[in-house]
Amino acid sequence: MRSVSDFPVEKPVLVTCGLPYANGRCHIGHLRTYVPADIFVRTLRKRGQRVVFVCGSDTHGTPIVMNAEELGVLPGELVGRYHAHFDRIFARMGVGFDYFGTTDAPSNHSRTLQIVDSLIEAGYVYPRDIELAYCPRCDRFLPDRYVEGVCPFCGVRARGDECDQGCGKHLEPGEIRDPVCKICGSGAEYRTQEHFFFRLSRFKDFLLQYLPGLRGTSNARNYAIEWVNQELHDWCITRNMEWGVAFPGHDGLVVYVWVDAPIGYVSFTEEWAKQTGGDWEAIWRGDSRIIHFIGIDIVYHHCIFWPAILKGAGYTVPWAVVASGMVKIEDKKFSKSRGYIVWVDEDYLEHGFHPDLLRYYLASYTSHTKELNFSWKIFQEKVNKELVGSLGNFLYRTTLFAHKNFKEVPIGDVSSEVMDRIGQAIDEFTQGVEEYEFKRAVDSVMAFSDFGNTYFQSMEPWKLVKTDREACASVLKDCLQIAKALVVLLEPVMPGLMEVAWRELGLAEESVHGVAYDEALVELEGGRPILKPEIIFNKIDDGKIDEMEAILDKRITEAVEKEMGFENMNKSDNISFDEFEQLDLRVGTVKEASRIKGSDKLLKLAVDLGETTTRVIVAGIAESYTTEELCEKQVVVVANMKPTKLFGVESHGMLLATENGVLLEPDEPVENGCVVSPTAIK
Ligand code: 2FM
Ligand code: ZN
Repeated sequence: MRSVSDFPVEKPVLVTCGLPYANGRCHIGHLRTYVPADIFVRTLRKRGQRVVFVCGSDTHGTPIVMNAEELGVLPGELVGRYHAHFDRIFARMGVGFDYFGTTDAPSNHSRTLQIVDSLIEAGYVYPRDIELAYCPRCDRFLPDRYVEGVCPFCGVRARGDECDQGCGKHLEPGEIRDPVCKICGSGAEYRTQEHFFFRLSRFKDFLLQYLPGLRGTSNARNYAIEWVNQELHDWCITRNMEWGVAFPGHDGLVVYVWVDAPIGYVSFTEEWAKQTGGDWEAIWRGDSRIIHFIGIDIVYHHCIFWPAILKGAGYTVPWAVVASGMVKIEDKKFSKSRGYIVWVDEDYLEHGFHPDLLRYYLASYTSHTKELNFSWKIFQEKVNKELVGSLGNFLYRTTLFAHKNFKEVPIGDVSSEVMDRIGQAIDEFTQGVEEYEFKRAVDSVMAFSDFGNTYFQSMEPWKLVKTDREACASVLKDCLQIAKALVVLLEPVMPGLMEVAWRELGLAEESVHGVAYDEALVELEGGRPILKPEIIFNKIDDGKIDEMEAILDKRITEAVEKEMGFENMNKSDNISFDEFEQLDLRVGTVKEASRIKGSDKLLKLAVDLGETTTRVIVAGIAESYTTEELCEKQVVVVANMKPTKLFGVESHGMLLATENGVLLEPDEPVENGCVVSPTAIK
């Protein structure tokens, strides 16, 4: 076996995962980081490494407070709810943190204060008067998301802390232009107030020397080096809020959430140490390996801001940052508001799918740093072909044949060819995982499973058992050993199902979770009973996938309808005539109508508006009209709508209808393109 490893046993290893905001449910996007991290931890442990694995809920920041206000609950209540939710989902998904804390715990408050105090003492935090958005009507300062306005960099409408629709830049307090209060909607003004800044600019030399040696994935390292080479701005680390970690000596100011959140990594390690008698300081102040698994969107915080804070406060800096690529749903950009989302409970677990199938998908779909597409059809194909067709088939046929013909593990040696092949499989898998190439690792084990199938098939034990029982026994011994190795190897990927397979091999005394990789090379003892196996992997049929796709389609349609304003229309009073006149209303005739795949409510229409070509208009009227009823019907069209894409079809207008879906039609036929205007001006 390969002996050189990046992880010398004597150095403590800490693995963390980016903290989920306790402000919403767990979706597949979250798991894309947590599942590989869990596989990584389980694999290192199987190599004999001691690893501490911590995570927790990110409980502070303005979105949580605003969400709580909207729901009429206290922020503490809201985060408590989601904290319990994530804890439960992680347990179900087999993501086994040693400690799952919360950043609102007293230990995190005190660790944050200690670190902030050290930074102040070392001169890395300084006060500065800044101009901040202030709402005179609400009589309060407006931190981060409490304010909206115009991005100073690209001129697009933006949130107070981020230009989310334009250039994507992080906005510092006071940078947003034309601020508007999100609470009452009135224009905000700027007022001067003292805030506290972290001298990130002082860490440029440190970062330039530190980053090239940072392990993990190259995407994180390379982005970070590029940013440091551009410019480092000092960060404002205080906010006007009550909810959060109080900034020492200043009422009404809390520490910025991006300070106390990563400090959670430290305080959760402390909590773990308290529970287990472990040594948290050996990790955070000693020579250790701290490995952060995060999403690609928070590389800046973990590779620049966080190491600088740790360095400034005298802590051990991260050894590796592993950044996962983004997630797509059915090849579309992941988006909660557009419905391209798969909730782990509602859309997966509650439909009876085993957690391990999703773990397998996430680990093996693509390289960790690339974009991962979740598609129900691909999920079905991977399960049916790879897990049922190859792995499941090999495990089942081997154990069933052994049970039927021998009832126990045959006496005798495993062939050296098979032992060598097992050694190779262990090397390939562990090397892949240690290089954060989870797909490569899993693929190599699946190739080993194919090897097992080919071996079984080519040896034809079903013939041998009649002609040469001894030769058959040695083939079976080999196959059972391959099965044992496969189960041990894949335990980090599919811990629940591999435990079942382990028992079927008659190895129930010890759980496979605690079994080291070397055990795969220990020959199965002859004479152990082999019971009649159960089928571990079952095919997913087309009907189930259709059902899952329909659920996703429904969610997407609902999101589109919401976007089109079919729901919760808020009208303002007293619009001016000028405002009304902005609408270009015209009569047209529907020339063609067809259904849109995936939507129960939308139809695609070709409408003659007296222009040179007909207009394509997508309308939400499929529940009130058939396509035949619409043909040659005259309709009223908003002709100057900004084009918008719905279900892949670009729509160039809207039809007018009542709220229960009855279309407006002129009292008698008129020319196509005829303008509709208020009677008052005639
Ligand atoms: O981006 C996020 O979802 C944050 N809640 C991650 C925080 S990770 C850490 F730094 F605390
Ligand atoms: Zn206000």
